[in-house]
Amino acid sequence: MSYKLIAFDAYGTLLDVYSMGQLAEELFPGRGQELSLMWRDRQIEYTRLVTMSDPNPLGSKYYLPFWDITVLSLRYVCKRMDLDLSPEKEARLLDQYAKLTTYEDSLKVLKVIKERDLSTAILSNGNKGMLSTVVRSNGLEPHLDKVVTVESVRLFKTAPQAYELLLKEFPVKKEEILFVSSNAWDALAARWFGFDVFWVNRLNHPFEEIGDRPNYEGKSLTEVLEVL
Ligand code: LAC
Repeated sequence: MSYKLIAFDAYGTLLDVYSMGQLAEELFPGRGQELSLMWRDRQIEYTRLVTMSDPNPLGSKYYLPFWDITVLSLRYVCKRMDLDLSPEKEARLLDQYAKLTTYEDSLKVLKVIKERDLSTAILSNGNKGMLSTVVRSNGLEPHLDKVVTVESVRLFKTAPQAYELLLKEFPVKKEEILFVSSNAWDALAARWFGFDVFWVNRLNHPFEEIGDRPNYEGKSLTEVLEVL
C-alpha cells in the first residue's frame, strides 16, 4: 500500500510516559507503578464517559479538555489509593506530564517520513495547549504537518468523529492513511474506523481480544519505516 499520511497518537506513542511511573514511585514509594497505571486507566475512562454519555456530532456537553481530565483523574486515583496528594506532589507530577519527552526514535522516524515526502500528523485526545508545549519542547514541530486534536469535535477517541478529523484536515483517502499507536484500544478503534494501523507494542502485551488485529505490529517506532 502506498500511504500518503502517517498519523501518530501522542501519549505513549511519540511521548514517553514511562517517566511518570518513576516520579510517582519517588513520591509514593512502593505505590508508584500502581498509581501510574490506575491514573492512565482512569484518564481514559473519563474520556469514554464524557464521549459516550452525550455522543452528539456537535460535541459532548460533558466535554472537558484532556488536561483537566488528566488532573482530575490523578486526584481521584490518589483518593482511591488513600495517598496524600499534597499540592506540591500534584504540581510535580503535572509539571512532568506537561514536559514529557519523546522516545529516542520519535524525532528520527518523523524526519525520515518527511524526507520520503509523506505527510505527518499527530491525532491526539490531548488539547491544543498541552500538545503544543510538548511538540515544541521536543523539537517535533518542523517534522509535523499538523497537530490534530479532538478539541474541535469535543468527542474523544474512540468516537469515529475523532478519527474522521484526519480526513477533514488532509486531502487523502481513508486507505492512504497509516495510523500509528501504542495503545491497543486506539489501534483497534482506528482499524474499525477503516485506517490501516501499526501497533507499537513496546512491552510485548497481548492485543485486545475483540476486533481485528492491526495490519502491522512492531516493538519500536523505527519499525514503522519498514512498512512505508
Ligand atoms: C492520545 C492519548 C490518548 O490521544 O494517547 O494522545
